[in-house]
Amino acid sequence: MKTLQRTFTIIKPDAVQKNAIGDIIEQFEKNGFKILAIKMLEITKHQAEQFYAVHASRPFYGSLTDFMSSGPIVVLALEKENAIADLRMLMGATNPAQAEEGTIRKKWATNIEFNAIHGSDAEDTARFELSFFFAGYELSK
Ligand code: CDP
Ligand code: MG
Repeated sequence: MKTLQRTFTIIKPDAVQKNAIGDIIEQFEKNGFKILAIKMLEITKHQAEQFYAVHASRPFYGSLTDFMSSGPIVVLALEKENAIADLRMLMGATNPAQAEEGTIRKKWATNIEFNAIHGSDAEDTARFELSFFFAGYELSK
């Protein structure tokens, strides 16, 4: 029996600015991800800080949260078998200079900061991130 897993992703402000929303969503669907929920919104600096609280002590925290609150983003709840690891693979390395051919970051990221896409890295972070952006009724499929 297939065990479906959920993950959370953000099409970041740089990718929205580059008109890459359609291409990135096409990659999700072509690679077997089911879109459970999707919305476009802007977040405040404070909301970005809450979302990225795990990185609060990192040197890039200030500029990352400025960036993430600088324009519209698209947030999605995705589902497939092995969704968390498979999405990380499809995204490519954090630094696009190290990202593999065929990955979303290889195609769309500008640099290690403006890197087009966020994806949850584990089951506990996926749960936190999904519930940060989606209410229970939006995910009760
Ligand atoms: O997004 P990912 O999980 O691949 O990387 P992370 O280490 O969790 O970092 C979160 C985000 O912070 C990255 O996606 C970049 O946008 C940003 N970052 C940065 O600006 N400079 C770094 N040296 C590392 C990350
Ligand atoms: Mg991360």
